[in-house]
Amino acid sequence: MKILCVVGARPNFMKVAPIIDELKRRGIDYVLVHTGQHYDEKMSTLFFVDLGMPKPDVDLEVGSGSHARQTGEVLMRIEPVLERERPDVVIVVGDVNSTLAATLAAAKLHIPVAHVEAGLRSFDRSMPEEINRLMTDSVADFLFTTEELASEHLRREGIAEDKIFFVGNTMIDSLMKHVRRAETSPILRQLGVQPKSYGVVTLHRPSNVDEPESLRGILEALSTIARDLPLVFPIHPRTRKRIAEFGLDTLISSGFILSEPLGYLDFLKLNKDASLVLTDSGGIQEETTVLGVPCITLRPNTERPITVTAGTNQLVGSDKQQILAAAAKVLSGRFEKKQIPPLWDGHAAERIVDVLEQSL
Ligand code: UD1
Repeated sequence: MKILCVVGARPNFMKVAPIIDELKRRGIDYVLVHTGQHYDEKMSTLFFVDLGMPKPDVDLEVGSGSHARQTGEVLMRIEPVLERERPDVVIVVGDVNSTLAATLAAAKLHIPVAHVEAGLRSFDRSMPEEINRLMTDSVADFLFTTEELASEHLRREGIAEDKIFFVGNTMIDSLMKHVRRAETSPILRQLGVQPKSYGVVTLHRPSNVDEPESLRGILEALSTIARDLPLVFPIHPRTRKRIAEFGLDTLISSGFILSEPLGYLDFLKLNKDASLVLTDSGGIQEETTVLGVPCITLRPNTERPITVTAGTNQLVGSDKQQILAAAAKVLSGRFEKKQIPPLWDGHAAERIVDVLEQSL
């Protein structure tokens, strides 16, 4: 059996790493393809090092571009790799443009596709990721889900029951594997913060950062919070560009501690010891749930509802007053720690490889 795994952007790496570990452990032949959607040292290379991932066998070097260009470049460049390697299955993860492009290329070559993190739905088609999720799931052959509701979405969309496997969350496999090692990270000292006395901010969604007015409102709310609680803000390249472009640098007040994007272990340590996380990321909602850290999500919806119903997450959108009210509530101690979702136990990758071994 030969398995081809595809990664492209930052949130893909920690989802694929445990699968590669498991393939290696079982002596299964694999090929790792990096599309090059993310290419900066800090958005990509650092993660391979921190997660102990092997260097990609193939790098398609597609880089940045419009959605059509980025998706199209991956589609064109991965086809000859698939034809050459002829894997028994292609594993794609998450919902980035690379996920969709690799899926389409494989499906048209009649190569089975396994989608890890299938069935998540925000029901917001203005998000590029929602389109990627819907399209990927509609042609994938193995749909591995992280929560029961995701399996239910797939059933409602008419996906056959025998293609759906509720296996848990490989991103949490990575977290559980590395959380002890992350303790050795010097990041708190480097940034000059003490455990449980700072917040963490991440911001990169086009709906938040590409519109001057939403970005202004969010930054105003954050700078108010930063008066009482230092906010560590590792800035995504897209957000850095927008802040400069819209002339919003003045809103980054003294309570902010800015940094470049951080590596996996540093960020895990930073998250774990935070009093509060404010984010528009998908994966961080899941990581904070497992770490028991309050998460305020700067989006009106989430494709990961279990982080709200079982976890530590609350949705506030980009409204300034709502952000401030949610932060005040957490900081006054009115925060309820809930449970870790079913099967988020560090063994999702094993279940995935079990299914593939039995089926292929
Ligand atoms: C992509 C994913 C998003 C994911 C996010 C995590 C899609 C549609 N979006 O969004 O789901 O949450 O990754 O980061 O696939 N850039 C750099 N260096 C890099 C990569 C990007 O400077 O290594 C800059 C470029 O200016 C680029 C911009 O960031 O134009 C956005 O990158 P892109 O890959 O288009 O999307 P993300 O916003 O990162």
